[in-house]
Amino acid sequence: MPARTIIIGTGSHLPKKILTNQDLEKIVDTSDEWIRTRTGIETRHISSDDEPNSFLATQAAKKAMEMAGVRAQELDLIIVGTLTPDMPMPSVACLVQKELGARKAGAFDLYATCSGFLYGLSIADKFIRDNRRLKILVIGSEVLSKRVNWKDRNTCVIFGDGAGAAIVTGTREPNRGIVSSHLHADGSLWELLAIRGLGTAQEVTAEQLEKGWQYIEMQGREVFKNAVRALESVSWEALESAGWHSEDIDLLVAHQANIRIIEFLRERLGLSKDKVFINISKYGNTSAASIPIALDEANRAGMLHPGMRLLMVAFGGGFTWAGMTMRW
Ligand code: UT7
Repeated sequence: MPARTIIIGTGSHLPKKILTNQDLEKIVDTSDEWIRTRTGIETRHISSDDEPNSFLATQAAKKAMEMAGVRAQELDLIIVGTLTPDMPMPSVACLVQKELGARKAGAFDLYATCSGFLYGLSIADKFIRDNRRLKILVIGSEVLSKRVNWKDRNTCVIFGDGAGAAIVTGTREPNRGIVSSHLHADGSLWELLAIRGLGTAQEVTAEQLEKGWQYIEMQGREVFKNAVRALESVSWEALESAGWHSEDIDLLVAHQANIRIIEFLRERLGLSKDKVFINISKYGNTSAASIPIALDEANRAGMLHPGMRLLMVAFGGGFTWAGMTMRW
């Protein structure tokens, strides 16, 4: 029996400050009703300057390690999915490594936007299939609020900050672990969802900052259409690869970008509402953090049992998208 990769601990951490739809009504021309009905979001968490990405990530990691009973010195690798690191260098993963004192762990950030956690988990899976004793910390962590234009109602109502983490290792127990993972991208559509500035393509100029190139720009409706299409197709691909039918799914954990996207997917897969985990109302779209936060909440609520069949799917800027089937 070859080794399979299982999650033995989860954790999440949200910044203290909560921003409600009513608060947003005072900042931009929007309404609680529009945000709730078009996105499903009611509140989101916003990090303060003393809660940078690496802090959120470290807190989430500590909770996951405590649940798993894994000490920092035992970690072999730390992977952080993020598009909003504390700074361009070093990586968030290195800062987390320092904070935890995980001296023997390698550490790197993985830039796959909202698919970052699933991309990270699939890489961890490859390592663990080779050596089931490895212990890998996979994190999704974002401070999107600092890359959001608070004058742009198309984006500022949607995004939130937070971090989620998982400790993964190998098992030979039957009927457990990651079954299949599927990574995709389409760079030709990058302009539909991008942060144009602050990279190295051009010097950062006052003119660029004036144009708002430091902020997320999104053509929402086009992104929506692509997200629905990609999430459905990667779902069928993952199910086929695992040899499952949609009725075999015990829980769908999808990237929390918009309640209507998740609802479309639920209908296309023919799932009942109790088979879909949703927490977007509380946190908004936290990009790479959304799936690990959802997993941690489901786990701590006692919804996940060994052997359960999970389908996880994500879609984000790039575009990137990913799907994974897992027996919990
Ligand atoms: O995580 C990465 C992937 N991201 C996503 O998957 C996001 C995908 N996109 C979406 O979730 C949705 O497209 C949005 C929530 C961003 C927008 O919802 P929509 O139903 O697609 O709205 P829309 O952009 O087509 O705009 C409809 C109307 C427009 O007004 P008019 O032109 O019809 O008069 C907008 O100006 O809604 C207006 N609008 C708003 N009104 C109140 C846009 N944003 C707001 C707002 N409050 N915050």
